[in-house]
Amino acid sequence: MSGRLNGPGAGDILRRVMPPRLYVNIDHVATLRQQRGTRYPDPVAAAVLCEQAGAEGITAHLREDRRHIQDRDVRLLRQTVRGVFNLEMAATEEMLRIALELRPDFCTLVPEKRAERTTEGGLEVASGGTLERVVTTLRQEGVGVSLFIDPEPAVVERAQKMGAGTVELHTGYYCDAPARSPEAARQLARLQAAARAAGEQGLRLGAGHGLDQSSVGPVAALPHLEELNIGHGLVARAVMVGLERAVIDLRAAIAAGASAREG
Ligand code: PXP
Repeated sequence: MSGRLNGPGAGDILRRVMPPRLYVNIDHVATLRQQRGTRYPDPVAAAVLCEQAGAEGITAHLREDRRHIQDRDVRLLRQTVRGVFNLEMAATEEMLRIALELRPDFCTLVPEKRAERTTEGGLEVASGGTLERVVTTLRQEGVGVSLFIDPEPAVVERAQKMGAGTVELHTGYYCDAPARSPEAARQLARLQAAARAAGEQGLRLGAGHGLDQSSVGPVAALPHLEELNIGHGLVARAVMVGLERAVIDLRAAIAAGASAREG
């Protein structure tokens, strides 16, 4: 008998014992800077501190309107981030050109609307449009692609068919529900079903949006979850306790949540 015996392989076992990685979304540091047009606080410096405190990666969203992260930021982040650099962007020609120049470790494609305060919903994953063209080009050029999607098994399946290697499940619906409410339980069950679907489709799995120290635990326990993108809740807490403390505590909350993972 050769190859893999029945049962989990080394990758499956590692995924089970390792807590999901924390990628800090540093847009919110840039928002504070842009609000006054100052040079500080610098998201690039914040990224260094987050990595020194244990974050496994950095996420930055270069929006079309440049309301927070600037082109200079992503260029410097590409040079300075030591772990994983995840460039979040809309599926547009301009962003595709920038991504191909920068070559981040992977790109997360998100829907973008000018009037929104932050990303509101997951992508419309339908074949034959700009999204598919951007996914295909990035993949052909060797840049990994994650699609930010609503937590629905059918959308997970469409993302896989489109060629995404990773899906990031939108956790905002779960976070918006009052803690421990029936709605929170319903949204968590939705995330669990979508996470199982991602595992079945052989996709790498991430999650994020709206998470913080108190809400992250049950999400960290999702089956197959490998990474979490967290920004606002972390930066807000850092204002009170400092960035290093906030990252250390959040990673501990993720590890505690993940220890409740099944099997
Ligand atoms: N993931 C995606 C795709 C996002 O757009 C955002 C917000 O920029 C996040 C994660 C992080 O969300 P939050 O800042 O609420 O933690």
